[in-house]
Amino acid sequence: MTETIRIEHKDFPQLTARRFGSGAQAIVLLHGFPADGRLWEEVVPVLGRDCTVVVPDFPGTGGSRLPEGDLSMEIMAGAVKVVLESQGIGEVVVAGHSMGGYAALAFAALYPRDVKGLSMVHSTAKADTEEKKEQRRKAIALIRKGGKEAFVKQMIPGLFSSDTRAQRPELLQRLTERALELPDESLVKFYEAMIIRPDRTEMLSSAAFPVQWVLGKEDTAVPLQSGLAQTSLTEVAFVSVYEHTGHMSMLERPEKLAADLERFTQYCYNR
Ligand code: MLT
Repeated sequence: MTETIRIEHKDFPQLTARRFGSGAQAIVLLHGFPADGRLWEEVVPVLGRDCTVVVPDFPGTGGSRLPEGDLSMEIMAGAVKVVLESQGIGEVVVAGHSMGGYAALAFAALYPRDVKGLSMVHSTAKADTEEKKEQRRKAIALIRKGGKEAFVKQMIPGLFSSDTRAQRPELLQRLTERALELPDESLVKFYEAMIIRPDRTEMLSSAAFPVQWVLGKEDTAVPLQSGLAQTSLTEVAFVSVYEHTGHMSMLERPEKLAADLERFTQYCYNR
């Protein structure tokens, strides 16, 4: 069963999320960029069989509106906290895809006692390099000049493996169409928030919770070697490397990802 959640809060004009399942083990799925909570739609039916699954739309996506002022990973993590509190959920496994992983790390830094486990799905604990920051500033300038469509169409193909690009063009099309629904201002604010996010490797190396790393062999956004190098940061790490997969396993390998997230969640609750 799916329940749609709508919240008004003093810090957020409107937040939306979806809730699936009613299991005792809870997992929150944080989407990446440029997307909204629908990104996880093929993963939740499997995960929701045994777990309570909460899928927020970050402010500025789906039905969630941007707050006044700048955005940061901490503000996005605060929105996640508000959604979870509205559902009476304290401890939770936090899974974040890429930008969602950056926000998941901020959540773990702000609310460490709430985190049963952290799943980094094609994500990194490192801050942007100077080169990456410069690329983002150029993209922001392009979007501000009305170039959102050019920006989105140029970025989406690179998020998928060569097999997916050749055999499943409908996945690229779906992601493109949904990305184009996002307001220009949201894309700009997310990129600005990513530019200023801190390195969280130190926080991770002293974390008390287990960490999962899901890596795509053909991911060019979070290259395999960079992901693998971070798997030794924590005492306990679940590591999955997906063949023929780029940056988008929730679309390219949804059943495998759901099974891996479920296994990790069970471990976090039963250890
Ligand atoms: C994402 O998928 O969320 C983006 O690739 C994150 C980023 O640009 O760093």
